[in-house]
Amino acid sequence: MKQFPQNFLWGASSSAFQIEGGWDEDNKGMTVADYNSFQRAHLQADTKIASDFYHHYEEDIKLFKELGLKAYRFSISWARIIPDGDGEINQAGIDFYNKVINLLLENDIQPLVTLYHFDLPFALAKKYNGWQDRQCITAFRRYAQVCFQAFGDRVKSWQINNEQNLMIRVNERMNMYDVKANEIEKVRAQMDYNMFVAHAFVTNDGHSMVENCQIGPAVSSTMTYPSSNKPEDVWAAQMNDNFKTNYALEMYCFGDYPGYYKKYLRECGIYPKTEPGDAEILKQAKPDFIAVNYYRTLVASYLPVDKTHPIGTRVNDIDFDLYGYFKIEKNPNLTASTYGAQIDPMGLRLVLNAYYRQYRLPLIVTENGLGTPDQLTADDKIHDDYRIDYIRQHISACYDAIEDGVELFGYCPWSVMDLLSSHQGFKKRYGFVYVNRDDHDLKDLRRIKKESFYWYQNVIKHNGL
Ligand code: BG6
Repeated sequence: MKQFPQNFLWGASSSAFQIEGGWDEDNKGMTVADYNSFQRAHLQADTKIASDFYHHYEEDIKLFKELGLKAYRFSISWARIIPDGDGEINQAGIDFYNKVINLLLENDIQPLVTLYHFDLPFALAKKYNGWQDRQCITAFRRYAQVCFQAFGDRVKSWQINNEQNLMIRVNERMNMYDVKANEIEKVRAQMDYNMFVAHAFVTNDGHSMVENCQIGPAVSSTMTYPSSNKPEDVWAAQMNDNFKTNYALEMYCFGDYPGYYKKYLRECGIYPKTEPGDAEILKQAKPDFIAVNYYRTLVASYLPVDKTHPIGTRVNDIDFDLYGYFKIEKNPNLTASTYGAQIDPMGLRLVLNAYYRQYRLPLIVTENGLGTPDQLTADDKIHDDYRIDYIRQHISACYDAIEDGVELFGYCPWSVMDLLSSHQGFKKRYGFVYVNRDDHDLKDLRRIKKESFYWYQNVIKHNGL
């Protein structure tokens, strides 16, 4: 029996634009996530209804209780609270999240709240080109303060944003549609920096406004293996982790970019504009924990510059290659999900060990899961033994990490129920609960407990495997 520590937070996760629907109800404003989903609505479901949590939250929270969740990680939609991002406050939005939070607490489920999960209010993208302008820092800080004020008496655990380190790589998530090709990297570097400054301000505000506040970043984690034992490949693998995750963790935890990152920004002529006072704020802000989103590992080899690709030329978005540094390869030793994510439970143990060793902060897994199509049988069942396998192996890796000495206080797989996957809509499902809809057919949105639901229920009941 693999028994977890007492009070271990068994949970599950979601995010506002992927689960809520009600995209323009009760004054909610449009977000960048809405806008992007509408662009591809002919191909897949969009955010308009999603899993319709907005209208089903009572039924859904009952299911969370039945599942046995001790914690539920979800995000607040900024544009539900402040529809245009920095204008009027929308009481109806506050009321909705109050109902959700109160119901969770009545059911002994701890709310773990993310303030910003890929869904910048669209009005801010139009007005300021989003994070490029420091006015977005001011707007985010105000929105966070409104949330601390409204919910801080009951919500004690806050994640400031979800995966800044991944979001920043994807032009559409940052609404970088109109930026000239030769300015993209400069704009990206400025947006990233401004988000770090906002993160620091909000960390400090959370600490001063919310009693017993626990606040920290949620990162998309990477663990990269070298493609060979050539020293330059080992270095390339390290640099891939550094450029995709560690530079961000260093900024959150130590308040400065590490040397290799400053060198890259200078070498490429894209060092962001800073303001007097930033350095102090960045250094002051101290996270209480790190939230780790983990799905897979990567392999990298050294990628030398050539005549057409000078240092710092970036190819692709999420798993980008960087000339002068690294190129992403496939791992022939791992199997992959239907959608290509290489499955690697040992990678989770490695990530948890690496972050704990380096940052010495308590860790919680806030995303981890298998995205696959599920088949509803004629008698209304989902036999998702593949999901059970995946989650069992990853829970086992968490157990090993705890035995290694890592202070891991919770595990919240993705996702609590089926929800909108950004690029595969409702074809790719992650949930413990099936939502009966297809991309373009809403059907009856019925909730059906999958086999994995009963399995995870048992894990929670026995506090382990
Ligand atoms: C994470 C995001 O990076 O990956 C989630 O925080 C997302 O919002 C999850 O849904 C899985 O990605 P995808 O593309 O399969 O939905």
